[in-house]
Order: sequence, then C-alpha cells, then structure tokens
Amino acid sequence: MVKVLYSQNGTTKTFRIESNKTILDLSKKENIAIEGSCGGSMACSTCHIIIHKDWVKKLPAPCIDEKEMLSLLPDYTENSRLGCQIVITNQLDGLQFSLPKET
Ligand code: FES
Repeated sequence: MVKVLYSQNGTTKTFRIESNKTILDLSKKENIAIEGSCGGSMACSTCHIIIHKDWVKKLPAPCIDEKEMLSLLPDYTENSRLGCQIVITNQLDGLQFSLPKET
C-alpha cells in the first residue's frame, strides 16, 4: 500500500492505496470530490487535480493527450494533472495533491 496525501482547506488527510491504482480510483473509494465523468478515458478533464510542487517532477510527464486536455482548463496551473492518469507506484509514496480552487 502506498501513502497518498490529500490537502483541502488547510487540512491534510492521509490515505493508503494499492499500487497501480490511480488518483481517480482513490477519489471514488474515499469520496474525494473528483467527478471523473469519463471514467478515465481522458475525455472530460473533470478529474483535474493539483500536484504538490515537491512532487510534480517526480511524476512521469503527461502524454500529449493529457497536456491538450489540461491546456483547455480555465483554472490550469503548472502543477495541474488529470487524476485518472496518475498511477500510484511505490516510488510515489507520500505523493500530495489537492483540488483546484472552486471558481
Ligand atoms: S476521468 Fe475524464 S479525463 Fe480523467
């Protein structure tokens, strides 16, 4: 099991998830407010998450399709990723993320 930290409104919750699951899988299991309406097929970007700055470079770079989806988001940041594309591995133990601010 891999430790993943989710920060919201100044509080951080720690979850444990099996490796090879995605952040979207974690959100479904733990009721984190990520919609993920396309189920992870990179067709909706409703799984937009913000990766903590310390972890951005430790993740595999987004593929072209993910970059394109992210570039369409009005609240895109340098640390934006699609939660359905972040596959948890043992190397990501301690990964920290949050959700974009509500507009
Ligand atoms: S769930 Fe649709 S793009 Fe991630």
